[in-house]
Amino acid sequence: MPRQPPPLTPRHIAIIMDGNGRWATRRGLPRVAGHREGVRAVRRTIEAAIEHGVRWLTLFAFSSENWRRPADEVTDLTFLLRHYLHSELKELDEAGVRLHIIGERDRFGPALDRELADAEARTATNERLNLVIALSYGARAEIAAAARRIALKARAGTLDPASIDEDSFTAHLATAGMPDPDLVIRTSGEQRLSNFLLWQAAYAELIFDDALWPDFGAANLAGAIAEYARRERRFGARPTASAPVPPIVSAQ
Ligand code: IPE
Ligand code: IPE
Ligand code: MG
Repeated sequence: MPRQPPPLTPRHIAIIMDGNGRWATRRGLPRVAGHREGVRAVRRTIEAAIEHGVRWLTLFAFSSENWRRPADEVTDLTFLLRHYLHSELKELDEAGVRLHIIGERDRFGPALDRELADAEARTATNERLNLVIALSYGARAEIAAAARRIALKARAGTLDPASIDEDSFTAHLATAGMPDPDLVIRTSGEQRLSNFLLWQAAYAELIFDDALWPDFGAANLAGAIAEYARRERRFGARPTASAPVPPIVSAQ
């Protein structure tokens, strides 16, 4: 049986939204103006993702390392996040968007933590688009937390260490139950992952767009999806699109 060709539209797109600060600085504006404009790009991107039939969209909004920024910028970002929730939640809900938050969101304080939990609960039955927002997220911290959870279960005797494999490890990550991203897009011309989804993006296609995040829109997303459709995803198998993927056998 020939392998089914992969669908041309990625099921899961993850975006490293970078370049807000440069967008503002180039206009002689304070950095917060770039973050504010970045929120508009988020809105456009969600709409475009829905139009393309993308089922999962993960947005990297704040990294574990972004706490290193000056306190006033962190405050501005927290304020914007809260404002975004208040102004968009109703519309997101009506559009069929289900919200998921990954990362150490409790670091933003109990009030925002509760609002985020409420937003997840309110949208929990929506099915059109799963919108994952990564907040105070870092992949290494996520992987270490998964290892910790597994170790605690092993010590308690509820998990057999011999049973730990890729699937069971995946089930202990913050993204448990979510499909891996097929496509990771980073804006602003930087070409690095900055500690984003290191485990989950093992076989994602990577696209680097020179646009600064506030300038990103439907055309950029369409361009990335078109580029993705031209790529051949081989997952280590031989480069013949119609050949079945053989099982992995070790040479002994
Ligand atoms: C991305 O834009 C937003 C966050 C990281 C929160 P930046 O703020 O990193 O913008 P640049 O990279 O300084 O231009
Ligand atoms: C990555 O952008 C994090 C987010 C987009 C939230 P950064 O601007 O923080 O990344 P570095 O520091 O340039 O790697
Ligand atoms: Mg940046």
